[in-house]
Amino acid sequence: MDNNIPFNSLPDLPPKADLESPTLLKECIKANKLLAELKGFCQTLPDPKLLINTLVLQESKDSSAIENIVTTQDELYKAVISMDEVHQGSSEAKEVLLYREAIYYGLKMMNQRGLTTNTMVAVMQKLKNTTEGIRKNSGTKLANPATKEIIYTPPEGENIIRAKLKALEEYIHNKEDDTDTLIKMALMHYQFEAIHPFTDGNGRTGRILNVLYLVKNELLNLPVLYLSSFIIKNKSLYYKLLKGVTAKGMWHEWIMYMLQAVSQTAGLTLNKISSIQQLKDETIVIAKEALKSAYNRDIVDLIFSYPYIKINTVINNKIAHRQTASAHLKKLSASGILTPHKKGKEIYYINHRLMNLLSN
Ligand SMILES: Nc1ncnc2c1ncn2[C@@H]1O[C@H](COP(=O)(O)OP(=O)(O)OP(=O)(O)O)[C@@H](O)[C@H]1O
Ligand SMILES: [Mg+2]
Repeated sequence: MDNNIPFNSLPDLPPKADLESPTLLKECIKANKLLAELKGFCQTLPDPKLLINTLVLQESKDSSAIENIVTTQDELYKAVISMDEVHQGSSEAKEVLLYREAIYYGLKMMNQRGLTTNTMVAVMQKLKNTTEGIRKNSGTKLANPATKEIIYTPPEGENIIRAKLKALEEYIHNKEDDTDTLIKMALMHYQFEAIHPFTDGNGRTGRILNVLYLVKNELLNLPVLYLSSFIIKNKSLYYKLLKGVTAKGMWHEWIMYMLQAVSQTAGLTLNKISSIQQLKDETIVIAKEALKSAYNRDIVDLIFSYPYIKINTVINNKIAHRQTASAHLKKLSASGILTPHKKGKEIYYINHRLMNLLSN
């Protein structure tokens, strides 16, 4: 195949490859086991939704970083709490927030209609904040950013692209195929990237589809497993392996990579969530001491869903009026839970221990 010619003969799934070799199955068992642990652990959490919000944000930042959108944690969290005020924040931070919206929107659509072409398009439109749909014009190519060398030219022609997406959709929903779900996810991810249905945002959309797929198949109850950070760290290998499938049918290597991504990430996520939970439990104890009878669980929830807050965040979330809010934040700062940080006219109160956990 020629990198410069649209790959219109991209075959539909499943590939004619051995998807059940002992090496693959061994890796597959390992990944499934770790994922099941993660799922089980999330089910024991008192308020998993709050934790997820923070994890999703982290994923949004990591995934957007693949495209070299530089967003510091600091910028990001400030933008998050400014969301209910004006849409200030930098445009990079906004992209990250859109990514998070795209995940939630994708989940909603998937639950209503499945992981269909429409869901895929909707996810991309949300995250790119565009009304553009499937590629209509020719000319989309993937180039090596350094050398500008063309590495892949995806299929062209809206009808062809739609037909391939339809086939992918059918493969995803085919109940008779008993291939392991994680192996199917690896196949699906390659296929989606190879179809490359949009002019841009295919990588980010594909990464969101992965987690949606895991939720759809009940390997997770909540969208908590994000492979972007693993993919960034192993990006050149990721590109090389995608290429390997197209050029040489190297499915084994590709699937191994994706399974290892799942294992590694599930382990890390499990550790991260349990550290966050532990920190939260400790924080509750200190906050009760600091606020005495004025203690209210909502304030702790707030600083665990927004690692940065301002007085207004407390007020807007209807936890307390200005005076009480201000007193609470001062007491929490004095007890070491929050660190005040003055920026211009604003004082940000940072849950720095949570920030440390998130950025490690
Ligand atoms: N040889 C290849 N064949 C098919 N897909 C590829 C190949 N190399 C890379 N890709 C995919 O293309 C994506 C980049 O495409 P695009 O720019 O549309 O996505 P993005 O979301 O804007 O970028 P990024 O993934 O870098 O954040 C990569 O993330 C990868 O998944
Ligand atoms: Mg791009």
